[in-house]
Amino acid sequence: MEYLDLLPEHVRTDALTALHAQRQRWVNQDKKGFLRYRRPSEALAAFHAARVDCCSDTVILGDTDEIDEGLRQQVRQHLLAFKPWRKGPFSVFGIDVDAEWRSNRKWQRLLPFLPDLKGRTIADIGCNNGYYMFRMAAHRPRLVLGFEPSVQHYYCFRALNGIAAIKELAIDLLGVEHLPLFPACFDVIFLMGVIYHRPSPIDTLRDVFTALVPGGTVIVESQAIPGDDPVALFPETTYAKAPGVYFVPTATCLRHWMVKAGFEAVETFGSHPMSSSEQRRTEWMDFESYSDFIRPDDPQTTIEGYPAPHRVFLRGRKKG
Ligand SMILES: C[S@@+](CC[C@H](N)C(=O)[O-])C[C@H]1O[C@@H](n2cnc3c(N)ncnc32)[C@H](O)[C@@H]1O
Repeated sequence: MEYLDLLPEHVRTDALTALHAQRQRWVNQDKKGFLRYRRPSEALAAFHAARVDCCSDTVILGDTDEIDEGLRQQVRQHLLAFKPWRKGPFSVFGIDVDAEWRSNRKWQRLLPFLPDLKGRTIADIGCNNGYYMFRMAAHRPRLVLGFEPSVQHYYCFRALNGIAAIKELAIDLLGVEHLPLFPACFDVIFLMGVIYHRPSPIDTLRDVFTALVPGGTVIVESQAIPGDDPVALFPETTYAKAPGVYFVPTATCLRHWMVKAGFEAVETFGSHPMSSSEQRRTEWMDFESYSDFIRPDDPQTTIEGYPAPHRVFLRGRKKG
């Protein structure tokens, strides 16, 4: 079943159906940039895990004894095609995929503050390979739709969920900018690791607001600068070596943006400095990582001389 069939009827417009069809045609092109991910994705999706466990820190898709050593080597080669692995950990038929981020830690911080996800229609914006979507699946949602414009991550999720076969999880090659096509659609929207990449963060939050049902909840997680003033850093070029960073707010500034966008009951429920114990180079991500982004002689300062990043967690409600 297509995810479109699980959305409220008023959202299943000709415009959304046409966009979805266009995206499907696009990812199915026989061009090198697509085939390099589509081929391993399809090869992996041919495997089916007998045991799937999304309840613990490591998402487990199949036990070691479900396939023989020869097949495990094939699975490993296909998984390596998705390097660099940013989000995890996963264990796939006994192969431990130790991603750059220990994403389980973020999930543990969020968990006590989440609304009930059971039976809910959820969007995960910028879902990457779907690590958090798998963790959400353990709560028995009606649908989790991942928005992800990267072909690499799109096909990585398709591979993992081909193995897991969780029918409540779906992905489309969409960006946060497509949320206006989903008015009053989602009970819960996760906007994590995205807002500081947006040139117009309040417009993005307004789009999120529009896409929530009345009474719906947004969970926003962002890189932030330390401090209590309602201000945002605007880097000249990169921030902690990341290009495409626009406004890096304090938690207070982000709270004000959310209020301006229309949310009520806005609260900050977490904040911590980022560190190399949570984001680091591994066998599955062998490029630069956190320790390369920060001045070696001054851990409070990025390579560019800006305040080193914190992470903040906020939630807000759309009036019911
Ligand atoms: C910093 S990562 C955050 C991933 C995940 N949400 C998390 O919190 O760990 C940003 C993600 O957003 C995706 N992305 C890039 N442009 C986007 C857009 N316009 N709309 C939604 N997601 C986007 C990237 O491909 C990447 O997977």
